[in-house]
Amino acid sequence: MTNTMRALICFAFLAVVSAYWRPDLPPGPYCGKTRQCCTDRQDDCSHQILDTLCYCDQFCNRTRAHDDCCPDYPSVCLNIPTPIIQKTCTHNGREYIPGKKYYDNCNACKCSLDYKGEPTWECEHDICLMSGDVVYGVNQYGSSWRAYNYSEFYGKKLRDALVYKLGTLPLSPETKRMGAIRYDKDIPYPANFDARQRWPRFISHVVDQGWCGSDWAVAIAGVASDRFAIQSNGAENMVLSPQILLSCNERGQQGCKGGHIDVAWNFARNYGLVDEDCFPYKASRTRCPFRPKGNLISDGCTPPIKQRTSRYKVGPPGKLNKEEDIMYDIMESGPVHAVMTVHQDFFHYRDGIYRRSRHGDNHLKGLHSVRIIGWGEDRGDKFWIVANSWGTQWGENGYFRIARGSNESGIESFVVNVLSHVTEAALKK
Ligand SMILES: *[C@@H]1O[C@H](CO)[C@@H](O)[C@H](O)[C@H]1NC(C)=O
Ligand SMILES: *[C@@H]1O[C@H](CO)[C@@H](O)[C@H](O)[C@H]1NC(C)=O
Ligand SMILES: *[C@@H]1O[C@H](CO)[C@@H](O)[C@H](O)[C@H]1NC(C)=O
Repeated sequence: MTNTMRALICFAFLAVVSAYWRPDLPPGPYCGKTRQCCTDRQDDCSHQILDTLCYCDQFCNRTRAHDDCCPDYPSVCLNIPTPIIQKTCTHNGREYIPGKKYYDNCNACKCSLDYKGEPTWECEHDICLMSGDVVYGVNQYGSSWRAYNYSEFYGKKLRDALVYKLGTLPLSPETKRMGAIRYDKDIPYPANFDARQRWPRFISHVVDQGWCGSDWAVAIAGVASDRFAIQSNGAENMVLSPQILLSCNERGQQGCKGGHIDVAWNFARNYGLVDEDCFPYKASRTRCPFRPKGNLISDGCTPPIKQRTSRYKVGPPGKLNKEEDIMYDIMESGPVHAVMTVHQDFFHYRDGIYRRSRHGDNHLKGLHSVRIIGWGEDRGDKFWIVANSWGTQWGENGYFRIARGSNESGIESFVVNVLSHVTEAALKK
């Protein structure tokens, strides 16, 4: 059979079907009810259809279109299958089949048939993590930073991201009231300071917390790691693992649903941490493999110097209230832990100096633990350099800059340092 013949047959078939098929008529059965297919023209070979009659006689067997034949005449009397009438929803100029789920960014939509059999389109109405309005608004109306549509964030709900991309639970009133360390050093501060340049081998890399609200564990392990390396001048230079906080710091903590930072720092002080090689980060709350009173030897970890047997413990955290005091502490002892407030636009940060924009303004927000590693100034615009925990694909290779000196997003409202308990042997090196 040639293609032309195929096309002709197909065309003839469609012509016959469309001649009989009137989609606006109820589907029947009519001729099918009695299997009554009459020869020639027989006026009594009819059925009631709406307020008139339809026919099932051979008069209908003509190629010319006419509309007084029953809709099921071709299928019943001529054995021509009638097309199934599929009801669809039309949304934004596109057709959707009933029963299937579709996604509009983070919202599931469904075309379903209501009690009358009519198709209706229904969607969830959540605020999505990624918003075209934020990307457009921030980039269009010249701000100090640029926004980006991160594909790995696309399709997620903002309220879920506030749990699983952040993780710092609200601070207790006692924690908020914690007394502050005052240095009040009247010294000239460098315009730019970056811990990565000051201590090139000692600063830990950016972590990807994954879809797990473990920012508290990541920030604490990061700050403690950096400070162990700095205070031991490289003798105890290892990456401490957030996983021990996630898995073993159970009391009052919620694993991937968030943690209290005061509880976590206390855990690091009393229980101690282990390194990443010994207990790699898994982005989920796994069973704790260590005994509370154990040490690195019983834990099966390999410390960088043989004199170290106890886990890596820190002193009590100290609060830093003022911009200069924060700078002084970073310059003297290394990165610090800060808690900031995150709104929707922050997730879109690509580069520049972050300030909360009015784009995508909604009431949703969350607390986020981060690690401040330095500061700088760009044409008089002062900023902090901060390590985030969303991998190196986000922001400026995993870092972001945020306005300094104005408590932007609360970044200066809760900043803490710690001293690491390095071994005597390490100090003598
Ligand atoms: C019409 O009816 C005749 C005789 O009953 C039959 O041979 C012919 O195939 C029919 N035509 C169509 C289009 O079905
Ligand atoms: C954002 O990215 C997703 C895919 O990653 C895409 O489907 C969507 O259209 C993008 N939105 C905008 C506003 O560019
Ligand atoms: C800094 O901002 C946070 C939240 O944005 C606020 O709770 C806090 O009181 C502010 N602190 C100061 C010292 O202004």
